[in-house]
Amino acid sequence: MHPIDFKASKSRGAIYLQLAQAFRDAIKSGKLLKGTKLSSARAMSVAYQLNRHTVMNALQLLVAEGWLESREKSGYFVTRSLPIESSSQQKKQPAYEKMNLSFADPLPEPKTININDYKYNFAGGLPDINRFPFNEYKRAVTKACRHIDINQLHYGEIAGVSELKAQIQDYLVRARSLKCNDLLICNGSQEALFLAARSFISPGDYIACETLGYPPARRAFSSCGARLVDIKQDEQGLCVDDFAKQLKQYKIKMLYLTPLHQYPTTVTLSPTRRLQIYRLCYEHGVVIIEDDYDHEFHYQCQPLQPMAADDPAGIVIYISTFSKLMFAGARVGYVTACGQILAQMRAHKQLINHKNDVLTQLAVAHWMSSGDFERHLKRTTKLYKVRYQAMADTLTQCQRQGLPLQFLQPDGGMAMWVNCQVNVQDVKRRAHEQGIYLQTEDEFYFAHSVRSLKPNTCDVSHIRLGFAGQSEAQMHAGLMALMRVIYP
Ligand SMILES: Cc1ncc(COP(=O)(O)O)c(C=O)c1O
Repeated sequence: MHPIDFKASKSRGAIYLQLAQAFRDAIKSGKLLKGTKLSSARAMSVAYQLNRHTVMNALQLLVAEGWLESREKSGYFVTRSLPIESSSQQKKQPAYEKMNLSFADPLPEPKTININDYKYNFAGGLPDINRFPFNEYKRAVTKACRHIDINQLHYGEIAGVSELKAQIQDYLVRARSLKCNDLLICNGSQEALFLAARSFISPGDYIACETLGYPPARRAFSSCGARLVDIKQDEQGLCVDDFAKQLKQYKIKMLYLTPLHQYPTTVTLSPTRRLQIYRLCYEHGVVIIEDDYDHEFHYQCQPLQPMAADDPAGIVIYISTFSKLMFAGARVGYVTACGQILAQMRAHKQLINHKNDVLTQLAVAHWMSSGDFERHLKRTTKLYKVRYQAMADTLTQCQRQGLPLQFLQPDGGMAMWVNCQVNVQDVKRRAHEQGIYLQTEDEFYFAHSVRSLKPNTCDVSHIRLGFAGQSEAQMHAGLMALMRVIYP
């Protein structure tokens, strides 16, 4: 019996696989019934005009997969135990319908933007990837492949390759006065933020967050079941009085801070407030997540050392990233904290993804040890300082021309926070239509906080303008176009 109508096609891959697929289709559709004896391989090869070996290969594959059974001296049969009815019986059965999927914590589909679709790009924290020294880095990648210890390529060590950890540890002492005993290499800061929350937060626990704030951090906390408490801030950063008040109201377990360049307002948290906040956290048993995402880019003076550099009680989880020093796609971030906390975070990391990409870690370690990494940082800090000044100059020029802009030149970072003194609710959409990418104040509130500072009316007047990612000329032209959108 030759129940399938088979004709080999030259364009659809190996012929024995096509034949096997034709058999599978016939069995699944009920055309070829379970228990049916197939005709001999020789007869099939004649009927389908195929080489007998091709037919045998297809039959053996179907036996191996369980669609057919081979019985000695009897030939091939469709497996009896298959739960498939004949095609005539199938017609009586209801067709499968899409099942209702019940997700545990349904999230909206992530929106991704392609920054290259915009003529002018004021995205807040983007480095200028065109300036990345790919040739230098290629040498580091080649070296990583050439001198690899293959033992490192197994699952093994979760926390990161020792070469990269050692380079980062040395660098942190030199560049940030931060001495740390151990590190955990993560898939960017985002994974570290999630792991920190996962290690401490049980559903219903409270995390205090500076407001305005970094939405991806809040979303990660909230997905771990955290209830968010918004804390006010002013031109010196997080308001200590407000934090103290909320500590009385809620049993806060963690505090999320971006103390060096507050996201999105760019304010640097003063040393006095850092000490006050540290003391309050210690007294109330609160763990601090310090997200130091763009430390190097500070222009007016040396950046303040991280809060983690003075952490006698071991309550600071310090998180940083290579996303600004290299590019976000590198996915290299790291975290340091006291040994007990790091051990928990390692255990949670193992559950998610075992470890980071070893070759990238080794390449970055070679790039750092060659000195090229720090030379790259020096060049980019110089470049971004020029762009920082150019943006401030253009905005000042706009003020002189009578536009009611207000801004404070931040001490560092990669963006400026500008008060346009008009409602900018609709500016983002209109700017995007003109090929200008920027972010507006409304994006940085969180609607679901238990104590929410989100204003009822959407009377928002600030925009965040990244200055690092495009040339001065491009930035100038983009700002002029943007002003026409904001003040039509
Ligand atoms: C506040 C803040 N934290 C962290 C990051 C970096 O995230 P990642 O290391 O996951 O790329 C960014 C990037 O924009 C950021 O703005």
